[in-house]
Amino acid sequence: MAPAMSKAAIILAAGAGTRMKSALPKVLHKVAGLPLLGHVIGALRAAGVERIVVVTSPAGQVVRDYAKAMGCDSAIQDQQLGTGHAAACARDALADFSGTLLIVNGDMPLVTGEIIAECLRAQARTGLAMLAFEPADPASYGRVLLTPDGFLNRIVEYKDASDAERGVSLCNAGCYAADAQKFFQWTQLLNNDNAQKEYYLTDVPSIARTDGIKCAIAVADEVSVTGVNSRAELAGAERMFQDRVRKRLLADGVTMASPETVFFAHDTMVENDVEIEPFVVFAAGVSVKTGARIRSHSHLEGASVASGAIIGPFARLRPGAVIGEGAHIGNFVEVKNAVIGTGAKANHLTYLGDARVGAGANIGAGTITCNYDGFTKSITEIGAGAFIGSDTALVAPVKIGDGAITAAGSVITQDVEADALAIARGPQTQKAGWAKAFRDKKKLEKK
Ligand code: UD1
Ligand code: MG
Repeated sequence: MAPAMSKAAIILAAGAGTRMKSALPKVLHKVAGLPLLGHVIGALRAAGVERIVVVTSPAGQVVRDYAKAMGCDSAIQDQQLGTGHAAACARDALADFSGTLLIVNGDMPLVTGEIIAECLRAQARTGLAMLAFEPADPASYGRVLLTPDGFLNRIVEYKDASDAERGVSLCNAGCYAADAQKFFQWTQLLNNDNAQKEYYLTDVPSIARTDGIKCAIAVADEVSVTGVNSRAELAGAERMFQDRVRKRLLADGVTMASPETVFFAHDTMVENDVEIEPFVVFAAGVSVKTGARIRSHSHLEGASVASGAIIGPFARLRPGAVIGEGAHIGNFVEVKNAVIGTGAKANHLTYLGDARVGAGANIGAGTITCNYDGFTKSITEIGAGAFIGSDTALVAPVKIGDGAITAAGSVITQDVEADALAIARGPQTQKAGWAKAFRDKKKLEKK
């Protein structure tokens, strides 16, 4: 088999995004915790694209920083003269590239590697291809006019279209694939003789035709090519993304009684036979192993949950929480940067931060790891099988040995050896009859 043709992509992201009414560039707004641009980059990578150039406006330094952090190059479009002009701005950045080039709008968070791969397969047939789709409401999308043999005749922008052309339901999704060197030759022949006085990327296929190259069409589903231009569309994209993840996880064998109340991040990993109760939120970086149960109203971020563990209801797992097999993290328990051993339990009202909890340890209600003195974070180590009495304050750095017990209400400031009992609270005294005598005295005073 011949080696796969090398692939590069241009992501168009220099638009002003005015309708977002935001100080943040549109492509950095997030869906499922990942910027729109990150979704597009991810889909391109999944389709085997090695090099990506993000076209940005001069003011888009934050976009260039993000692109760099994601391993992409960037180019600057000095003036927004249209999508064709924007794509041509990536020419220098790709001067040494030969192979297949994708050109994709930067605001399509639901695009997938498979959809892009379809565009690439269509491109392999003729040398040029685009993604089209049939939206429920074609609105102001560019209309796709076909030749009798099913290739592209031309794309007509809504503002330039006649009434008959506006009646066409097939629309341009904003994703194209072409031979890189030919593409940049074609963009040099663009003009701005149209309603918006812009250099339209959509005129490239007509130029290619004069070069004897037909544009093939790959048809995408509406969801995958949905664009985001406003906050309402951003919320709509979030809904569609969540819906897609929920369906996938249900199909993969995850139980959710009320999937529409569970929110996932772009990278949430959940194995089969996990149960997720209603109203659970996953922020980025969470994995949950088979057989675990995530109970209602829990919030998880940057955490891993092993098989058979039970989280919540009302638990919070923060970054670095590593919950062992069969462990229980109950209501109003917060875990941060802490490893909770196999079968350990912290069932109520507890903060475990910067801690290591051994297998089978029991953490009583109201236990707090005092991990922070305002300057440094210190570690608490709790041994296997230890029993931390209710309302224990563990002043870190501190170690509780295997099998040790701390008495309820203790403030533990020194290490406790294995199998010992540590009591660090005021001893109890009792004054017989004192309460009654007190009441009697007060009653007399009142008369
Ligand atoms: C474009 C297509 C239209 C298609 C639609 C799909 C053109 C001329 N029209 O229209 O056929 O149906 O996308 O969503 O291409 N951008 C730049 N520099 C510019 C202008 C735009 O980088 O000078 C970027 C934007 O940031 C955006 C993308 O190009 O990511 C598309 O631009 P936009 O103005 O949204 O094009 P549409 O009018 O939606
Ligand atoms: Mg648009």
